[in-house]
Amino acid sequence: MSRRRVFLSGAGVIALGFAGQADAADPFAGKEQYKLHCAPCHGMDGKPGMPQSPDFARKSDPHNGLLRSDTVLLNRVRQGGSGCPSFRGVLDDFQILDVVSYLRSMKR
Ligand code: HEC
Repeated sequence: MSRRRVFLSGAGVIALGFAGQADAADPFAGKEQYKLHCAPCHGMDGKPGMPQSPDFARKSDPHNGLLRSDTVLLNRVRQGGSGCPSFRGVLDDFQILDVVSYLRSMKR
C-alpha cells in the first residue's frame, strides 16, 4: 500500500514537469517586457512610433518579421540591427520568446 502511494506521487511530479515546459511562451509576461523595452520605439499598440520601424499590429506587413519563425525572431531580437537595439544580456531567451508571442497576439 505505502509502496503504491510513493509510485503515484512520483508520476505526478513528472507530469507537472512536462506541463511546465509545454506552455513556456507567455504573451502576458511578454506584454510587460514589451512595455518596458520595445514600446518606446514600436508603440504600445504596435503602431510604429519611429519612422521606418515595422507595424506589428498589421499582420500583412512584410517588414515586421512576423511571417518568420519564432527562432528567426528570437535571433533577430537578440542581435538587433538597422535601428533595433540588441537585447542580448537585457532579456533572456525565454523573455524574448514571451515578447514574440505577445507580438503575434497584437491587433487593432
Ligand atoms: C531604439 C528603438 C527600438 C527599440 C527600443 C526596439 N526596436 Fe525593434 N526595430 C526598430 C527599428 C527602427 C526597426 C526597423 C529595422 C529595419 O528596418 O530592419 C525595428 C525592427 C524590429 C523588428 C523587425 C525585424 C525584421 O527583421 O523585420 C522586430 C521583430 C523588432 N524590431 C522587435 C523588437 C522588440 C521585440 C523590441 C523590444 C524587446 C524592440 N524591437 C525594441 C527600433 C527599435
